[in-house]
Amino acid sequence: EAEQVVADLREKCATPESLLRDVASAMAGEMSAGLEEEGRSKVKMLLSYVDKLPTGREEGSFYGLDLGGTNFRVLKVQLGGTKKHLVHCESREVTIPPHLMSGTSSELFGFIASELAKFVADEEEESTNLLNGKKRELGFTFSFPVRQTSVASGTLVKWTKAFSIDDAVGKDVVAELQTAMEKQGLDMHVAALINDAVGTLAGARYYDEDVVAGIIFGTGTNAAYVEKANAIPKWEGKLPNSEDMVINMEWGNFFSCLLPVTEFDQSLDKDSLNPGEQIYEKLISGMYLGEIVRRVLLKLSLQSGIFGDNDHCKLNTQFHLRTPHISTMHHDETPDLKIVSEKLHEILGITDTSLETRKMVIEICDIVARRAARLAAAGVAGILLKLGRNGSVDNNQRSVIAIDGGLFEHYTKFSECLESTLGELLGQEASKSVTVKHANDGSGIGAALIAASQSR
Ligand code: BG6
Ligand code: GLC
Repeated sequence: EAEQVVADLREKCATPESLLRDVASAMAGEMSAGLEEEGRSKVKMLLSYVDKLPTGREEGSFYGLDLGGTNFRVLKVQLGGTKKHLVHCESREVTIPPHLMSGTSSELFGFIASELAKFVADEEEESTNLLNGKKRELGFTFSFPVRQTSVASGTLVKWTKAFSIDDAVGKDVVAELQTAMEKQGLDMHVAALINDAVGTLAGARYYDEDVVAGIIFGTGTNAAYVEKANAIPKWEGKLPNSEDMVINMEWGNFFSCLLPVTEFDQSLDKDSLNPGEQIYEKLISGMYLGEIVRRVLLKLSLQSGIFGDNDHCKLNTQFHLRTPHISTMHHDETPDLKIVSEKLHEILGITDTSLETRKMVIEICDIVARRAARLAAAGVAGILLKLGRNGSVDNNQRSVIAIDGGLFEHYTKFSECLESTLGELLGQEASKSVTVKHANDGSGIGAALIAASQSR
């Protein structure tokens, strides 16, 4: 009976190469539709108004504020006009108190502004003198879908991931931040408002001009890339001399009936903060993988008693099993799967599992993480297809994809599978010109760099 549940799961989560090729084409098709006209696609293809990416020649001191991943960050960089002279002066990381994720807009922005104020207050007086009366320039990474009205303003379209603050939807995020900063007596200028995928692209582009896309596989998932202005029909008011524009795809909301969605994904979606939305994200990103596995384990336990008489209270609690936990179990290489046994005990209160059961737990983690990584690779292939960079090239063209986020960074089997699947989809020749690069902590720095390019 238990074997049957796992066999079913394996079958329903299958992602053969042919399916992935179709998903890649569907992604490329949705990208074009989203660029055509507002509302044409579930993939919003939001304009970032970032039309110049950092070159490495930026100068001055800039601040970055980074909200929307696991941690909230404040940082300061000093740019000396050449790539060698980027000094990452200071940064501070704070966990957002969970109650602020569903409170009011002014509570959230009040918290952010107060952390920023503390950070600035701790700076040495010297740096204040260096400002010569000029305002401090800030780049704000806000990792949610925003309909931008300029590079430094935009309204929140909707919340995703674990945030849900109703009164902030439709409001100008920068105005909210600015009001909160004023209350703190902070006189800073928000020079750029960007998404984390855009920030990752910018941070990586600073060092390498062949970077074509920035992608996040973390709590959520998203991608940003550089598009030609003439391929964006919906961009009204386009300046005659603008050539490129960075697009924040918001690909987490991609949907296609090709996606291998199971009963577990359906129930997860139904119980989520945003039912019917972010379906691609719910199959792939770090916020959800542990929760999918938990739902499978719960069914197995209820149907076939694989966990014996153990109390199911924790196994019954939503989001109790987290992606870092399944990653640790999945990477267990001890002969008797000691780590799986420890985690099951520590996290779910389940003891006395047989080796067979532990193997089954690993297999479930493998099915869920592999499906995620392979669908993620299909998304990347879709972007390369849209850019015409998925075939063999003869002019030494390189395409670098910069990736950030906790899932990619820490879940080795996920990132390995993503990279090998991308190789499979591109084929040997095209693979030679495509490089996947881990861009660590790029998006806060990216925001500061875009602030610098804007204030140039
Ligand atoms: C970080 C970025 O490196 O990656 C954040 O600076 C981004 O802005 C984050 O949101 C995604 O990672 P996670 O895993 O914390 O969601
Ligand atoms: C979610 C957000 C998106 C963000 C991504 C990664 O998908 O909607 O804006 O880039 O998570 O943090």
